[in-house]
Amino acid sequence: MEIIESPREMQQWSEAARHRGETIAFVPTMGFLHEGHLSLMREGRRRASLLASSLFVNPTQFGPNEDFARYPRNFERDCEMMRTVPVDVLFAPRPEAMYPPGSQTWVETTEITRGLCGAHRPGHFRGVTTVVAKLFNIVKPHVALFGEKDYQQLRAIERMVRDLNFDIDIVPAPTVREPDGLAMSSRNAYLSPDERRKALSLSCALRAAAAAFKEGARRPADLVAAAARILESTPGVKVEYVEAVDAETLEAIDSIERPVVVAIAARVGNTRLIDNIVLNPQRPQAELN
Ligand code: PAF
Repeated sequence: MEIIESPREMQQWSEAARHRGETIAFVPTMGFLHEGHLSLMREGRRRASLLASSLFVNPTQFGPNEDFARYPRNFERDCEMMRTVPVDVLFAPRPEAMYPPGSQTWVETTEITRGLCGAHRPGHFRGVTTVVAKLFNIVKPHVALFGEKDYQQLRAIERMVRDLNFDIDIVPAPTVREPDGLAMSSRNAYLSPDERRKALSLSCALRAAAAAFKEGARRPADLVAAAARILESTPGVKVEYVEAVDAETLEAIDSIERPVVVAIAARVGNTRLIDNIVLNPQRPQAELN
């Protein structure tokens, strides 16, 4: 696996590859990889002749009181995991190469990032769309893969790609879960054994919403109530939001005639976790994967 730090060198690598007729799949990451990242990378491998990844803990997507400084990092372990896929090229820039002094240009979506996490993490999605736009211009992929666990991020990036005419296919991939249902996340590393048990309330809550849906509930408020009951009866879990919104626009709806996403953000101890499920009235039997 080739490791490139400089944006210019990365661009040259990709331009040369494209010139040879190769296709490039891209999985951007902030490192501390888990099976969720690896499954995106394996899918990327299948979709193009070359696989690129990036490892960059992007400072602009963390709020002033968030976990940027303590975000888990292990570069050597991440490289070993990428080699198993295998990844062909890893772009691992230094912060000053991504945001040189004087940087003042941002990429920002509007409606799609107004609610859910956007309402609770001001500036977060502006940091995400800006860094992803920059990574797209540097890595020049044909296809880029994003996990459905970060559902609003995925929708915002799809929106950005459409609105700014990026010539890149965005491929969503299902959330990867631990055998007991916990959605895989680099932030799970913060959880103590007791918190890890409590964190299961998120996937249990989504299962409860899916069960209500299967039994015929078609009002978003009923799905939210089913999920909230589980979360609120778990001591040590502080709900930030539970919402059921249109799965495409992420806007509030009165009744469910099109796919709906039930999304949760909650704090378990000091760790903020998110999870979601998409429920489709055309396929009401669907369960949490
Ligand atoms: O999902 C992530 O890990 C990050 O938000 C991303 C897409 C790599 C941008 O920093």
